[in-house]
Amino acid sequence: MGLFKLKKIKGEKGLIYNNKKIIVLIDEKQLKERVKELGRKITKDYEDKSPVLVSVLRGSFIFIADICREIKIPVTFDFMAVSSYGDSKVSSGIVRITKDLEFSIENKEVIIIEDIIDSGRTLNYLIKNLQARNPKNVEVCALLDKDVPRKTKNNIKYKGFDIPNKFVVGYGLDFAEKYRNFPFVGYIENE
Ligand code: IMP
Ligand code: MG
Repeated sequence: MGLFKLKKIKGEKGLIYNNKKIIVLIDEKQLKERVKELGRKITKDYEDKSPVLVSVLRGSFIFIADICREIKIPVTFDFMAVSSYGDSKVSSGIVRITKDLEFSIENKEVIIIEDIIDSGRTLNYLIKNLQARNPKNVEVCALLDKDVPRKTKNNIKYKGFDIPNKFVVGYGLDFAEKYRNFPFVGYIENE
C-alpha cells in the first residue's frame, strides 16, 4: 500500500523501495505534459497520413499507450522485441530480434516508439533493419535520451527528455524487470 507515495529524501523527491532509494527525475505531471506535446507534433506532421507505430517491447509499453492517445490521426500498431548479446553492462552492439513485426511495413510511414536511447546501438540496428523492408520512411520517437558519448549520431525526431547518464527506472523502464509500474522516471541512488 502507498508504494508510490513520494517523500523528501535529502531534499529530493523520492521513495524507499526494497531498501533502495529511488529519486524522482521526471515526475508524473512532466511526463504527461511532454507526451501530450510530442503527440501534438506527430499529429501535425502526419496530418492526412496513417503511420505505423512500432513499439519496442517491453520498456516502451507505457509510453506507447500514453502517446498513442495524444496522436489524433489514424494509426496502426506493431510490436518488436529485441535483446542485446554480450556483457550485461556494456551493450555489445549485436542485437537479436526475439519478436518480429506481424505486418509488412513496405511503403508505409513508420514511427519507432522507444523508451530510452543509451549507447544508441539498439536504435541504429532497428533503423537499419526496418529500412531494409522498404518503408516510405522511418522516424524515431524516444522518451529519453541519455547523455552518453556516442560514435554515431542518432536522429531522434521526437524526443521527450535529455537525461543525465544514470540508470533510470519507472514509466515502463525496469531494473531486473522491477519498477516498471512506477508512474514517474527515477534513478536508483548508488547504482
Ligand atoms: P542501447 O542499445 O545502449 O541504446 O540500449 C537501449 C536499451 O537498453 C533500451 O531500449 C532499454 O531497454 C535499455 N536501457 C538502457 N538504459 C536504460 C536505463 O537507464 N534503464 C532501463 N533500461 C535501460
Ligand atoms: Mg527498450
